Amino acid sequence: MSRKLIPALYHLHKDKQMPADFRVVGFARREKTDASWREELRKDLDQFSRTKPVDDKVWQGFSQHISYCQGDITEAPAYAKLEKQLAGFRSEPLRHNLLFYLATMPSQFGQVAEQLHEAGLLHKNGEQGWQRIVVEKPFGHDLESAHQLNAELTRFALEQQVFRIDHYLGKETVQNILMFRFSNSIFERLWSRDSIDHVQVTVSESLGVGQRGGYYEEAGALRDMVQNHLLQVLSLVAMEPPVSLDAEPIRDEKVKLLKSLRALDPEDVARQVVRGQYFAGLVNGQSRPGYRQEPKVKSDSNVETYVALKMFIDNWRWSGVPFYLRTGKNLPASASEVRIQFRPTPHVLFAAQCGQKLDSNALTLRLQPDEGISLRFNGKVPGTTLAVRPVRMHFSYDSEFGAYTPEAYERLLLEAMAGDATLFIRRDEVETAWQIVDGIRKAWEDKPLSNREFYAAGTWGPMAADELLGQNGHLWHAPVTPK
Ligand code: BG6
Repeated sequence: MSRKLIPALYHLHKDKQMPADFRVVGFARREKTDASWREELRKDLDQFSRTKPVDDKVWQGFSQHISYCQGDITEAPAYAKLEKQLAGFRSEPLRHNLLFYLATMPSQFGQVAEQLHEAGLLHKNGEQGWQRIVVEKPFGHDLESAHQLNAELTRFALEQQVFRIDHYLGKETVQNILMFRFSNSIFERLWSRDSIDHVQVTVSESLGVGQRGGYYEEAGALRDMVQNHLLQVLSLVAMEPPVSLDAEPIRDEKVKLLKSLRALDPEDVARQVVRGQYFAGLVNGQSRPGYRQEPKVKSDSNVETYVALKMFIDNWRWSGVPFYLRTGKNLPASASEVRIQFRPTPHVLFAAQCGQKLDSNALTLRLQPDEGISLRFNGKVPGTTLAVRPVRMHFSYDSEFGAYTPEAYERLLLEAMAGDATLFIRRDEVETAWQIVDGIRKAWEDKPLSNREFYAAGTWGPMAADELLGQNGHLWHAPVTPK
């Protein structure tokens, strides 16, 4: 709440993007007054705001819209109290246009939706104004639990009223994947097995699990990152053009793509999926404990903090093209990027001068940090001899558009308020993603990690991840840092 949501709303207000009239009502168990809650939020804002210092005048104005309602979300009287508070708002839209952000445990989603409905705050057909529910991951921990959660959420709200957040979709660079693909004819023409050799998606993090050991023990990298962020990025990179930019056509194409991912049976998982767990090591000169020594982690835990996968998309466009995905904690750098590796030239004209192997062209979509796009190609080294060297053309968001990058949550909250579901995950999308991930989990069940599946903090994951690409003569490319 105070790390992401309030700073996002504060900035939307600051940038005059909030509706003319709005209220933010905190609903939680602890005793607080409006004033004490505002004070608490202000302190946190000083710490978490993306612009510093916090603008006092803007805060003063913004904080007048904030109030607090104390109540236990498991009890009906609390909802009656909340209803009363909302009914007290003067204007019709303030009373009936309601966005419920459920910052609760997923196991409480169903109950909260029911109680909101019972208190007359949530209606299925939007008879009075609109009501929407925003939820964050984890949406369940497997297909069955996701199915159950979705069923509970849609008992009192239509699917169109449920906004499931994957914060990666709020990132400018992730949104730019579609813009880049479908507004540039030269690249879209190359976007298939005819020109592309393979694709690498890397989402690496230089931090360990830190204080989130308890959550992570239940999740692991596959559920925490692959099921959502990596598959989302993959679907945007590989999907077919949607018929329009409306939410449903885009989401239809993403689901179609996820459904074309070749299912992995246990033998495929053994060949195509590598998991790993970090042990103590140095990340950028700082010593880090092993995962098993992190707070709230079992000393014999088999939870993976790293995953690398080779996936195939069974459709006409991508048949036979490997898509490599990797993510991990305590890696040497925090960087997310998509590398499109093009096929080598059919014949090397310069073999006598430069050897048989020429560097293949690559296009890198750099999602974060140093947001930008790089194209790598070969050029002649100036001089009297014939020497070739890979060079790069680089587009940087910073130098082109300035440093302004809104936080993902700003965009997502704005879209949820506007009722545009494009950047949110639809029910069938989340369930299809679970289906893929469940197959992998099943193959790992009851299989403790072997020695080969550990990596030192500060390295790029277990050796097996290199071998995974080596099978096809490929290599992982460390994230590109322009400069
Ligand atoms: C979250 C995961 O969804 O994404 C975290 O739960 C991870 O484990 C985070 O650190 C990464 O997000 P970002 O925006 O920092 O790349």
